[in-house]
Amino acid sequence: MDVKLLSGALGAEISGIDLKDTSIKNFEKINKLLLEHKVIFFRNQNITAEEQLALGKHFGPLEKHVYVKGRDEYPEIVRIIKKPNEKNQWGENWHSDVSYNVKPTKAVILRSIKIPPVGGDTMFANMELAWETLDKNLKEKIKDKKAVHSSLGGAFFTDDYEAMESNGNHTEYTNEHPIVRTHPETEKKILFVNWTYTKKIIGLEKKESDEILEKIFEHQARLDFTCRFRWTENAVAIWDNRSVQHYAISDFFPGRGLGHERIMDRIAIEGDRPN
Ligand SMILES: [Fe+2]
Repeated sequence: MDVKLLSGALGAEISGIDLKDTSIKNFEKINKLLLEHKVIFFRNQNITAEEQLALGKHFGPLEKHVYVKGRDEYPEIVRIIKKPNEKNQWGENWHSDVSYNVKPTKAVILRSIKIPPVGGDTMFANMELAWETLDKNLKEKIKDKKAVHSSLGGAFFTDDYEAMESNGNHTEYTNEHPIVRTHPETEKKILFVNWTYTKKIIGLEKKESDEILEKIFEHQARLDFTCRFRWTENAVAIWDNRSVQHYAISDFFPGRGLGHERIMDRIAIEGDRPN
């Protein structure tokens, strides 16, 4: 096995592990790497949907997306499609997947099927580091507080994306989570608010809450907390959605990345209630 770090902050590209091996023993190796590096990447893994699902089930119960219709034959798989002339890509901007759920996603397994020759990389950021390095006074202010996360309703996930189909649910959900959560496996502290879904700190006036959240979001996006993955076809990314945020870069500009289709298959594993 070979482990190549993607940056000093997080992420590793793993070779010498075959994801077609869906045994518990192979899973244990993968989970250990995931906890250590927070996001791990594998290339040239021509796995089937069944193998992707089998790997996912070792992590825990799979979840269906709240708003997006899954594939007909595999309802837990969301096929993320960016049509050739679309500039928007699902998953733009920093976020932790479905942080608005009572139990936000534990981990995601994303498999690339069609990748443009340029554009559409994904970035990841280490939220353990974001907590460790946060300003001391700010830490003091927020360490025991909770924040409201909103799902933004169904339109946010489907209306701007030609091929992303609604499952018919339009209800907006909100939930409160601790701003600093403890990772259930590593017991590390994690800064668990994100630019996309976190709307307000409970117990503060709107103005103060906005000012503090703005400072935190800026801090979380520091480039030295990140790594960036250049996709190739048949690559697989697995990220720990509790301790990282991610950002799908929509750099599809005329004469550059635009004019190409991008297709990915995503499955998600249900997490714990943050505390
Ligand atoms: Fe996402």
